Amino acid sequence: MRFSGKTAVVTGAASGIGKASVLLLASEGATVFAADIDEEGGAELASQSNGAIHFQHCDVTSTEDIKALMDRAAAETGGIDIVFNNAGAGGDGAPIDEIEPEGWDRTMDLLLRSVAFGIRYAVPHMIGRKNASIINTSSVAAVGPGYSPNAYAVAKAGVLHLTKMSAADLAKHQIRVNAIQPGFINTNIFTNSLELSGEQAEIGKKAIAAMSAGAQPVARGGQSEDIANAMAFLASEEASFVNGTSIIVDGGITIGPKYSWDPKEPDMFEALRALAEANQQ
Ligand SMILES: NC(=O)c1ccc[n+]([C@@H]2O[C@H](COP(=O)([O-])OP(=O)(O)OC[C@H]3O[C@@H](n4cnc5c(N)ncnc54)[C@H](O)[C@@H]3O)[C@@H](O)[C@H]2O)c1
Repeated sequence: MRFSGKTAVVTGAASGIGKASVLLLASEGATVFAADIDEEGGAELASQSNGAIHFQHCDVTSTEDIKALMDRAAAETGGIDIVFNNAGAGGDGAPIDEIEPEGWDRTMDLLLRSVAFGIRYAVPHMIGRKNASIINTSSVAAVGPGYSPNAYAVAKAGVLHLTKMSAADLAKHQIRVNAIQPGFINTNIFTNSLELSGEQAEIGKKAIAAMSAGAQPVARGGQSEDIANAMAFLASEEASFVNGTSIIVDGGITIGPKYSWDPKEPDMFEALRALAEANQQ
C-alpha cells in the first residue's frame, strides 16, 4: 500500500497504460482522478473501484479541461501528490516533406503542450505535499527514427526536455519530475492509428506483439502493466532520490542492432569477414 492517503491524477486513463496505472495506484491505496475523452471507458473503469477512482472528462488539448481536472482533484481531496501526464495517440503520420501545419500543431498539442499544462495546472496543488511526483509519458521514439512518425517522435523528445526543465523549475517546491519511455506496448494505440476495429484490430495487436517479441532481447510483447510498474516506482517513496530523468522500459529494443544481442545473428565483424572472403574468391 505505497499510496495510502495519496491523491493521483492520470490522463489517458480509459485504456492501455493509463488504465493499468489507475488500477495499480488505486490497488495500493490512492484516490485516483482518471481523465480521458472516452466517457464509456472512463465510467467502466470507475465502476471497478470502491469509490477510489473518479472519472473526469478531460480533453488534454484543452487547457481549460486540464485546469478543471487538477482543480477538482485538489478541491475534493485537499491537494495532489502524483500526476501521470500520459494521454496520447499516434498523431499525424506524414513525413516532414509532406506534413501540413494543422497535423503538426494537432500532434504537438496532444503530446507536448498537454504535458506542459498538465504540469502547469497541477503544481499549485502539489506545493507542500510530501514526495510530490510528476511522471510524463515519453517514448522510445524520442531516441531516434524507426519507432514512430516524425511529429510524434519530436513531441516525445520534447517531453524529455520538458521533464528536465520542469524538474529544475520545480526544485524550489521539492516536486520531482521524471519521464518514462515505453517501447512497443500492446495497447490500442497502433490499431487506432491504423483505424482498425473489431476482429481486424485483434489480429493487428497479435501481429504487433509477435513483431516486437522478435525485435528485442526480452522476447515477449510489452504490457501496460510493465509501464504502470515503472510509473508506480517513480511515484513512490522508493524513488524519492530520482529526479529529472527518464526510465526506458522497452524490453531492450533500443539496446542496439539485433546482431549485438541475438546469438542467432552473425555479428558485424563476422559479416564483414565473410564479405571480404567472398570478394577474394
Ligand atoms: N503503446 C505503446 O507502444 C507506446 C509506446 C510509447 C509511448 N506510448 C505512449 O503511452 C501513452 C498511452 O498510450 P497507450 O499505448 O496506453 O494507448 P491507448 O490508445 O491504449 O490509450 C490512450 C488513451 O488516451 C486517450 N486520449 C487520446 N486523446 C486524448 C485527449 N485529447 N485527451 C484525453 N485523453 C485522450 C484515449 O482515449 C485512450 O484512452 C501515450 O502518450 C502514448 O504515446 C505508448
